[in-house]
Amino acid sequence: MARSRSKNRILLFFLVTALVVLALYGLHFFEPRLRASFVHAGDPAAEVQKQEENFRMVMNIAGLVLWMILAILITRALSSILFGIFFRQRRGYEAPVLIRNTFSVVAYIVGFVIIFKAFYPEVGLGGLFATSAVLGAIIGLALQDTLGNFFAGISVHADKPFQVGDVIAVGPWTGVVESITWRAVKIRTFTNHIVLASHSSISKESIDIAPRDNLNARIVFFNTLYTDSPAKTIHIVREAVREADNVSQKITPIVRIRSLGDSAIDWEVKYWLVDYAKYNDTDALVRQRIWYAFRRAGIHFAFPTRTLYVERKARVDGAGADGSGFIDRLSAVDIFAPLSSEETARLAAASVSHVFAPGESVIRAGDEGSSMFVVHSGRVSVQITDNGKPRTVAVLQEGDFFGEMALFTGEPRTANVVALEETEVLEIGKQAMKHLFDTNPNLVDSLSHIIAERRVGLTAKPEEAGDGEKESEGIIASIKRFFGFD
Ligand code: CMP
Repeated sequence: MARSRSKNRILLFFLVTALVVLALYGLHFFEPRLRASFVHAGDPAAEVQKQEENFRMVMNIAGLVLWMILAILITRALSSILFGIFFRQRRGYEAPVLIRNTFSVVAYIVGFVIIFKAFYPEVGLGGLFATSAVLGAIIGLALQDTLGNFFAGISVHADKPFQVGDVIAVGPWTGVVESITWRAVKIRTFTNHIVLASHSSISKESIDIAPRDNLNARIVFFNTLYTDSPAKTIHIVREAVREADNVSQKITPIVRIRSLGDSAIDWEVKYWLVDYAKYNDTDALVRQRIWYAFRRAGIHFAFPTRTLYVERKARVDGAGADGSGFIDRLSAVDIFAPLSSEETARLAAASVSHVFAPGESVIRAGDEGSSMFVVHSGRVSVQITDNGKPRTVAVLQEGDFFGEMALFTGEPRTANVVALEETEVLEIGKQAMKHLFDTNPNLVDSLSHIIAERRVGLTAKPEEAGDGEKESEGIIASIKRFFGFD
């Protein structure tokens, strides 16, 4: 589409140029005939001279206009060749509008002066430009601001302190540079407004620039109680932040203590962004991830954020600090159905609740694992890497369990398990399961069947899966070996 339009423009250019050249040639070629029709040799001498003067004037004006049109056409063609093809090829970027326009204006003026001088050598243009002080003053006053902006714009272009796509903060405005014109810089603010900041005003301010092709950092503040371990806080926050969307993987986030405050340890986490223009969302996500990570790790925000602390207590009570909420959940899980109510209660008391944010990993493939999980609320997705791409093999809901494969066989985790929404899981450790196996030997059988089935689901092609029955027997043997039975 754009290609055919530029083709049409080139055709039009050649057509108009050809017409103008033809007209100039015609003017020259038909000059004697035109003169004959204008100047009547038989008239009195004074009359003939007047006719001759008129004829010259008409011819000069016609010639001047045609040459001017030709000069405009040539300037435009030169500008396209220079900035559209030559500059882009050599320097790999498009020349700014301001430079292109400056080139065109200078070329027009030079063309105009040359042509005018060719037709009217006796008229002093230099005098017109240099001595017309009144004209200069009028133009100067009228264009004071425009010229100020223009020259400030030239210095912005020469310095190139920022480019289209960079995030800049100038005066009260912060946003992404959308374009740089003759007069102003167009900034799209983070409330999606357009601000036109004139070059002259910008040149008086200091500008904070976050270049688009630079790894720009942000700092987010938080605090913890004095009773929470700094080493644990650093580890937990670093891991939580580096997993958040738009946080660059190239540099590990830095977590450090800013100060020891009156009622809290004050912290900051510095992280680098892939797309700096989204820093508001990313800051918010980082704070959210810290909150969830703190909750799982049992780290507490300090008292200024006491409301969060109170809410958290209410939720844990609601889930059943005595295990009652957990008992209902666990007794609804298929494999635990045969357990007596005392056994389920003991299992509930031994389980630990964790909450994960949407997108967070509960289990990473390849890790060691010595516990399994039951989904108490929310949903998780079981994912494997197939030909370098993540593939979901199952979505598990409330009452489903996972993590049993590594727990019962001692092998590394077979898949990634990622929270699809805010998800609360109950973690059951190896010791608690060992007690159950002692009293419920059938549990090993039902688990081995489920593990065998899930292994089939993990194989990229079902035909590659082994014999189910034989596999179950193998799994039973390895569970028994791993738990030290028989
Ligand atoms: P584990 O290997 O410990 O860690 C990853 C878990 O994903 C695994 O235990 C199973 O609980 C679960 N999983 C693996 N494959 C499947 C499947 N095909 N269907 C459901 N869950 C699975």
